[in-house]
Amino acid sequence: MDILVERAVLVGVQVQTDDHFEYSMEELANLAEAIDVEVVGTVVQNMERVNPSHYVGTGKISEIRNYFEETDANLIIFNDELSPSQIRNLENGLECKVIDRTMLILDIFARRARSRESRMQVDLAQLQYMLPRLIGLRASLSRQGGGTGGGFQNKGAGETKLELDRRVIEDQIAKLKRDLESVGAQRETQRKQRRRSGLPVVSLVGYTNAGKSTLMNGLLEKMNVSVEKQVFEKDMLFATLDTSVRNVKLPDNKEFLLTDTVGFVGKLPHSLVKAFRSTLEEARDADLLLQVVDVSHPEYRFMMDVTDQTLNDVGVENVPTINVFNKSDLAEVQYPQVNENNVWLSAKDGKGLDQLVDLIKKHVFDKYVTCKLLVPFDRGDVVAYLNDKANVKTTSYDEDGTVMTVEMLVYDRERFEEFVTSY
Ligand code: GTP
Repeated sequence: MDILVERAVLVGVQVQTDDHFEYSMEELANLAEAIDVEVVGTVVQNMERVNPSHYVGTGKISEIRNYFEETDANLIIFNDELSPSQIRNLENGLECKVIDRTMLILDIFARRARSRESRMQVDLAQLQYMLPRLIGLRASLSRQGGGTGGGFQNKGAGETKLELDRRVIEDQIAKLKRDLESVGAQRETQRKQRRRSGLPVVSLVGYTNAGKSTLMNGLLEKMNVSVEKQVFEKDMLFATLDTSVRNVKLPDNKEFLLTDTVGFVGKLPHSLVKAFRSTLEEARDADLLLQVVDVSHPEYRFMMDVTDQTLNDVGVENVPTINVFNKSDLAEVQYPQVNENNVWLSAKDGKGLDQLVDLIKKHVFDKYVTCKLLVPFDRGDVVAYLNDKANVKTTSYDEDGTVMTVEMLVYDRERFEEFVTSY
């Protein structure tokens, strides 16, 4: 059987104000490779601003076309989101399949989505992207010449979607929005339950491939959480699209909830950020954010800016944050090292995890207090609870019951107020 490979030429416009252009082209190539598209060449044009009608200058079209033929490519990928008319004009001028950065990212998300919610979120983002572009995309996707059969996994679905008329797509969008709203409401209930448990919530955020899942697993392993509870980690862009929540219990019985979520990337499509809003909002209610950064990457500062910007866009503000400079083993830095709210570590070799745990404790366990209790003998349940959930420092007995000195959550102290003898 013939395996048809997508061979792509990448096209980018460098505007003078963009200091990260080279990296964004490199990232575009990585995104393409993430779905097995082979990159056969790159065309760059320096311009003051992108051309509103054709993205590139019209004089560049024939050069791109020639290069496309020379390299025997069958696909052209543009480094920005193209407007409906840009797609149409490029289609006409280039006579080949045209994709933009947004479609590429949406396609990766479509492949990675596992849960019902993340599937619905990606579907919604894809449909919203397609709706104003139906004409151009219809031409592009029906252009099968040149063997563009492989690659885009959702192409079949895309074609079917395009055969539906605009009205049907609009109905689908409305339905997905309704369904997502009800899933969002369930998520809100779960969040409330978590808050009621009194346990602090720590959320991992960061650029894709920074090492969030590896860090989560490292922390879980340290706390002896069983292997089946660990999360998926892979050298793959956007390996994680779903939120996972794990309970971490420290040796002194203090507990917190650790959540992991979707990673970010430069120029993350607006429709996608909107669709993933409820997943991303998990971070808003966190007591502490761990911003995981691949410090071995030359563009890590830029990646931090993108992460901050995306969080801002979904309303995550004023949450205390620890910067976790991960992959220090690959960078020229000394580690483990702590400086205020910054920690340099390696999730891979585990060096620095203790320091991170100490920092987390400092932040989230300020809700703990130490007090003395006298628990009557008929309330063995309370003693058992405290031994399990709190840090019991001393225990002795007198004729009225068990006398304990306990470091515990303010929330628990309120619950057991009647037994407290001194603060
Ligand atoms: P997304 O799901 O894309 O958001 O990625 P992520 O941030 O969850 O990254 P993940 O934990 O999947 O790690 C990405 C890759 O980096 C994997 O191949 C890890 O083995 C590797 N990695 C993670 N942490 C370290 C580290 O401290 N040192 C080194 N050398 N590699 C690491």
